[in-house]
Amino acid sequence: MKHLLSTTDLSKDDALLLLDTAAQMAATQSREIKKLPTLRGRTVVNLFFEDSTRTRISFETAAKRLSADVINFSAKGSSVSKGESLKDTALTLHAMGADAVVVRHWASGAPYQLAHAGWLDAAVLNAGDGTHQHPTQALLDAFTIRRHLVGRRGGGDPDGVGADLAGLRVAIVGDVLHSRVARSNVALLRTLGADVTLVSPPTLVPVGVETWPCRTSYDLDATLADWQPDAVMMLRVQRERMSGGTGGAFFPSPLEYTRYYGLDARRLGLLPDHTIVMHPGPMNRGLEISAEAADSDRAVIVEQVANGVAVRMAALYLLLAGDHSAEGNDL
Ligand code: NCD
Repeated sequence: MKHLLSTTDLSKDDALLLLDTAAQMAATQSREIKKLPTLRGRTVVNLFFEDSTRTRISFETAAKRLSADVINFSAKGSSVSKGESLKDTALTLHAMGADAVVVRHWASGAPYQLAHAGWLDAAVLNAGDGTHQHPTQALLDAFTIRRHLVGRRGGGDPDGVGADLAGLRVAIVGDVLHSRVARSNVALLRTLGADVTLVSPPTLVPVGVETWPCRTSYDLDATLADWQPDAVMMLRVQRERMSGGTGGAFFPSPLEYTRYYGLDARRLGLLPDHTIVMHPGPMNRGLEISAEAADSDRAVIVEQVANGVAVRMAALYLLLAGDHSAEGNDL
């Protein structure tokens, strides 16, 4: 593996290697000294053309915990806001000797172009491109699901190391149309053997969804009560990607959206006791998820953030440490 661009590129073995390596990384994160020397002398550039809080901080933390040098490059306040092209930005990063570039871009496909246009010889990690892909989010979601629903319940390894997600049911609910998180998760969960149902209003279903390896439903209550998912993943309503930023063109009113597609205490009551509630953040509390649901015992939302660091450490380690790593390769 040279780049991490899309979960559709990952074989089951690749995905399990990433998750199992993340489990080793997570174990190092409970030590008093969290830093490993593995990527000493390597340079990781965070190239963010779109706003981000947790993904950027998570990648930065992951790279620093592996002792890499980290350069944060955000479009605001850089020459990009003066109109510099992706190509010129890439050539600059190349000249600075970047070993890995973590890129978030509003255009679907930008990380692919960065990886394959020949402007750079760095490893490219997609941190979210348009409505297309966000592979490390899907990996941290799979890691969280495996830890809770395979590891802790199974009585074996607490992280479920080595196991896939066969037999588990995951409902992904909300604004599927604009969600790179949904696209990344559908592909990865399927590769790992889980069954997925997408639940969204008809106006927020992507064209061509019938070719995706999952079922779809417009009925949240029926999906929760009849299908009994093991994990319910709520998606943010992405008003900034809707016309005018109001959401108005896609659903009649926020109240109506919440009534049909919001997760609240009543709906939690339809679920089996073991079912976990997930959200990639940032949450619109009161719209797609109520405060009671977000703060309930079933919610693993804060844990998803913590697991994100371990998963990104694993991705950086597997892409960069390879053959040319310096000493200190052992975890
Ligand atoms: C997601 C994203 O940016 O795609 N958030 C994240 O990475 N934590 C989902 C979202 O913005 O709703």
